[in-house]
Amino acid sequence: MWLDTKKIHQAERPNSKEFTSAFKTAAQQEAGDLFAEVMSKSKGSTLAAFYSSDSVPAGEATKLVYNVTPTAGQVKFSESDRRGPLGLASYLIQTSSEDHTSPAKRGAFVIERIMCSQFSNFDTIPFPKKTGSQTNHDIYVGLEGGSCGGCHKPMNQIGFMFEGFDMMGRARTEAEGLTIKIDANPNIDGAEVEIKSVAEFTTALANSKQAKECFARQLFRYGMGRKELTPAPIISTKPVTIKVTSQAELDSCQLKAAMDALEENEGDLKSVMTQLLSSEAFLKRINRKPMQ
Ligand code: HEC
Repeated sequence: MWLDTKKIHQAERPNSKEFTSAFKTAAQQEAGDLFAEVMSKSKGSTLAAFYSSDSVPAGEATKLVYNVTPTAGQVKFSESDRRGPLGLASYLIQTSSEDHTSPAKRGAFVIERIMCSQFSNFDTIPFPKKTGSQTNHDIYVGLEGGSCGGCHKPMNQIGFMFEGFDMMGRARTEAEGLTIKIDANPNIDGAEVEIKSVAEFTTALANSKQAKECFARQLFRYGMGRKELTPAPIISTKPVTIKVTSQAELDSCQLKAAMDALEENEGDLKSVMTQLLSSEAFLKRINRKPMQ
């Protein structure tokens, strides 16, 4: 799945005896189950309904994250800021380490997987050790300076918004002794948007052109069994030259048709899937296996 939910299996929480492989498997399934539920509705199977859903099909296993007892296999979130796949255990846990959340990883996930921008190559730098009274928050803010900021500033703008959820995905009102306050200006559709809550952000994101275009790309990858050749926007500290080939132009037409289907039908997911499945490009595709 494009939300990389299986990555939760790489997470370790040695201090929590409830963090078992059964828990991870349950958490991994939730985003797919939510997507299937949105798709099974007779009306309102939209991208916005998925990204801003205030409930998820879930069992008892993830109760320690949501703190809600499921009713008829459904968890209705108790926090207004917990919405869609970005409110789920799989996202919030896989973007944290054992002892702290990572605004960098949370921001990068949204930028790469939901907005489909990519980062140019960068060196992997281990998380620095805290010195004196420095907090993790200070370290992430420190990454916004110099050449690192080109990537880390947009990542922080998004990642800091999710500080109301700890490394187990549980809601919290303070971290490192500071009250959590959301006041961010992430870039959506090429403009800075003032955001005061995660719910506001997920709604803006769900209705953005960028998220729709990204969904069209993800669907293309899954359906066509390969990555599209249409270049995605690159976040880089150096200028990048993008070469466009004629095959890339064909893929762009295909993506545009999918985007148009989404736009014309107010983000309706069934229309975009029908558009892809009935296209010449899909019917005559060479690779018959979906891309994982
Ligand atoms: C081209 C973009 C880019 C640039 C430039 C860049 N980074 Fe990063 N950095 C990333 C991404 C993306 C991640 C998250 C990787 C992941 O998801 O695991 C990251 C992760 C990190 C992390 C780990 C964060 C964590 O939560 O564990 C550190 C530390 C870091 N970068 C330091 C730096 C420093 C210092 C610089 C400047 C010298 C720098 N980075 C420049 C893109 C960049």
